[in-house]
Amino acid sequence: MIKFLDIQAMNAAHGAEIEEAVLRATRSGWYLRGEETRRFEEAYARYIGCRHAIGCGNGLDALRLIFRAYIEMGVLHEGDEVIVPANTYIASILAVTDNRLKPIFVEPNAETLQIDDTLIEQAITPRTRAILIVHLYGRCAYTEHIGHLCNKHNLLLIEDNAQAHGCMSKLKMESYEHSDDNSLHQVHLEKDFQFSNEVRWPKGKATVNSQTNRRLIQISKFRIQN
Ligand SMILES: Cc1ncc(COP(=O)(O)O)c(C=O)c1O
Repeated sequence: MIKFLDIQAMNAAHGAEIEEAVLRATRSGWYLRGEETRRFEEAYARYIGCRHAIGCGNGLDALRLIFRAYIEMGVLHEGDEVIVPANTYIASILAVTDNRLKPIFVEPNAETLQIDDTLIEQAITPRTRAILIVHLYGRCAYTEHIGHLCNKHNLLLIEDNAQAHGCMSKLKMESYEHSDDNSLHQVHLEKDFQFSNEVRWPKGKATVNSQTNRRLIQISKFRIQN
């Protein structure tokens, strides 16, 4: 019988390393934030080519925190519309609705199963403030056209990367002018997920780019991370 999801086999390659890390954390008696989280945040930010990573309890929290930080900064407001893929995991949508923002669903491309970028512009209204792309099934959802739409309509681009750790796009830097380092956009969520190629510990983390987002980091990390 072929197992649908063989987590033991996936973890085996890194077994000793994972067990050592778990032991180190439990023996330290420090389970939230602290040195282990700090080291993880630094290593993960380096891995994906981002300036900062902020550890969270789970993927939904990380996504919620991104929207909440933008609201606290006064960039997003109650009732603002966020374009989302219609076929994503429920957490992507809950992060939007929990913050009293309005998800606007866009159907996927039948070939790639990622949000269909040709359908996005017709979903944009005067209340649209952001596009939440979700890199589904290990693939990068970003396209040049999405970057172009963000610039044209002055929209935030937020990534839910729960399912595609380390995914990359050759297009990123040229087509989205707000990026100023190696990762695609301003903020994205990463989460340990069975479809991703790597086994990671701990689970959720929100990552942010761009010096102009320093305030976002301050609010996320020091005010609401806990
Ligand atoms: C695309 C996507 N976003 C967000 C999440 C939420 O992560 P968590 O289950 O850690 O809250 C998941 C979880 O599977 C997911 O697949």
